Amino acid sequence: MENPLIVANWKMNPQTTEEAKTIALSSDRKGVVICPPFAFIKSVKERVKKAEIGAQNCFSEKKGAFTGETSPVMLKKLGCRYVIIGHSERREYFGENNNLINKKIKVVLKEGLTPILCIGEMKKDTGGMDDIKEQLVEGVGDLQVKKIIIAYEPIFAIGTNLPCDVEEAEKKKVFIKNVLAKNYSKGEQAAVLYGGSVNSKNASSYIKKAGFQGLLVGGASLKIKEMKKIIENVYSL
Ligand code: PGA
Repeated sequence: MENPLIVANWKMNPQTTEEAKTIALSSDRKGVVICPPFAFIKSVKERVKKAEIGAQNCFSEKKGAFTGETSPVMLKKLGCRYVIIGHSERREYFGENNNLINKKIKVVLKEGLTPILCIGEMKKDTGGMDDIKEQLVEGVGDLQVKKIIIAYEPIFAIGTNLPCDVEEAEKKKVFIKNVLAKNYSKGEQAAVLYGGSVNSKNASSYIKKAGFQGLLVGGASLKIKEMKKIIENVYSL
C-alpha cells in the first residue's frame, strides 16, 4: 500500500510556541502533515525534519487589502506544502460556502500547494449523500481533482468522540470515489482521507478495512502519546 497520509489538524491549539515545538517533534515522521495555527508554522517548520507542514486555511487572493487574512504565497514561503480548505468549522462558524472554497482551492493549486478539501454530511440522519456530492462537485469545480486530497469528515464525528462506523465510512468512501470517477477524468486517482474522532484504537481500521488513503486527526493529534500510537499503528500496517 502507498504510504498513508496522516494530517494533524491542531485547530486553535496549543497556546505557546514551546508547546507547539514539543508536540511537533513527537509527530515528526514521514507521511505526517502537521497543520499548526498560522502563528506557529515557522517554529514548527524549523523544528521538524521528516514531517510536512500544512496550514488550516488561507484566503482566496494572493495579496491586497484583506485585513486579517493569509495568502497562500506567504504559506508557500514559510515552507507549507498543504492547505486544509473548507473544514466544517470554517463552513459553520465563518460562513464559508462552496463557491469561496472553490476559489481558495484554485489559488492554492496555482501556488503549487496541495489543497485538502474537507467534505461531509451536515446531519447524521439524512444519509448525507446530497451534502457530500454538492460539496465535492462545487468545491472542486473544473479543477484537476487528482491534485486535490479529499477528506471525508462526517459532522457528527468531529470532536465528539463518536467516530463514524468503519462500515458506514467505507460506504461513503465508495460513494465519493464513484462521484469522482463519474465527474472527473482520472477522478478515482484522488486520495480520500477519513476524519472525525480518530484515535489510536480506530485509526488503522479506516485504512485497512475501509480503504481510506489516510486520516485527518484533530484532538488526538495534540496528545503526544496518543498521536505516537496512531502513527505507529498506521505505519505498521
Ligand atoms: P477530531 O477532529 O479528530 O477532533 O474529531 C477532526 C477534524 O476536525 O479535522
